[in-house]
Amino acid sequence: MSKILFLYYSQSGQLTEIVKNFAKPFEKSGDYSITYASIEPVKDYPFPWTGASFFDAFPESVERIPCEIKPLDLGDEDFDLIVFAYSVWYMSPCIPCNSFLLSDQAKRIFKDKPVITLLGVRNMWIVAQEYVKSKIIENGGKLIGNIVLRDRAENLTGIITISYFLFSGSKGRFAWFFPKAGISQKDIDGVTKYSDLVKNHFEKGNLDSLQKELVSEKAVKINPYLVSTEKTAYNRVFLKWSAFMLKKGGPGNPARKGRVRAFAFYFTFAILLIAPIKYIFFLIFAPFRFKKIKEEIRYYSGTKLKSNT
Ligand SMILES: Cc1cc2nc3c(=O)[nH]c(=O)nc-3n(C[C@H](O)[C@H](O)[C@H](O)COP(=O)(O)O)c2cc1C
Repeated sequence: MSKILFLYYSQSGQLTEIVKNFAKPFEKSGDYSITYASIEPVKDYPFPWTGASFFDAFPESVERIPCEIKPLDLGDEDFDLIVFAYSVWYMSPCIPCNSFLLSDQAKRIFKDKPVITLLGVRNMWIVAQEYVKSKIIENGGKLIGNIVLRDRAENLTGIITISYFLFSGSKGRFAWFFPKAGISQKDIDGVTKYSDLVKNHFEKGNLDSLQKELVSEKAVKINPYLVSTEKTAYNRVFLKWSAFMLKKGGPGNPARKGRVRAFAFYFTFAILLIAPIKYIFFLIFAPFRFKKIKEEIRYYSGTKLKSNT
């Protein structure tokens, strides 16, 4: 019997539902022993979020500083396939998932094992996934597949609907003319089409060709505008703000409240003003970057890390 491990952390239950649906074809066949392991921080993050707690999670997310998590009871810790399911916080794997990636337990579990990443996000995940790829490799694992479920709303609309979701805890509509928040139920239910593919490839022992087929089934879709926005925002803006905030102390430190608040204002301004301007520039220059954009789509759809290609 092959053993599959599902590792995940979900606040609202959205990612848990994705994981449980993904596991269905494996559950149904009866040929697999399945372990679900929910990563648990010793001091959990609030859900729904308050404005203060949401922005206070920024520096540790961006700088990838782990929180304390409870060790997972995983028996002999020997699995044939690992599904690492995570959401993204500020272009980084959510702090609980990152904390697991950095743990000694991850080193033992990932070593020499095939790993699939399964993401449940809004729409900005490229920078986080590059980092996760590098950590899986550092832990000795081999990333053989990536599946990304994301919010289908257009970028600005999605920011409003996810804010409603995260601050109210409801996946309903912010107002009648807005789409429902979060990942659509159709996409959550449809994730089994990707796990069917994973199961087929796993059983035939041809995991190396899995990602190509996942991509052709649209398990990953790259938006070139968001790739360029993410890379600029993370490297030129996020890292500077996080270092600035961390100088005033760790999570919840009252001394950093002023800087956290200043960032919250900047963030809102950047989303409402800078992002649309950047979008116009992107459209103007896109025809001249055609080759580069094509290459980016190919690379970010894959599971390899640049230095390892
Ligand atoms: C603090 C915070 C920051 C987030 N930043 C991002 C982000 O950078 N990119 C993105 O696509 N989604 C972002 N999200 C949305 C999450 O990836 C995820 O879709 C949402 O939190 C629901 O996950 P859950 O299953 O844990 O409830 C963020 C959410 C939180 C709470």
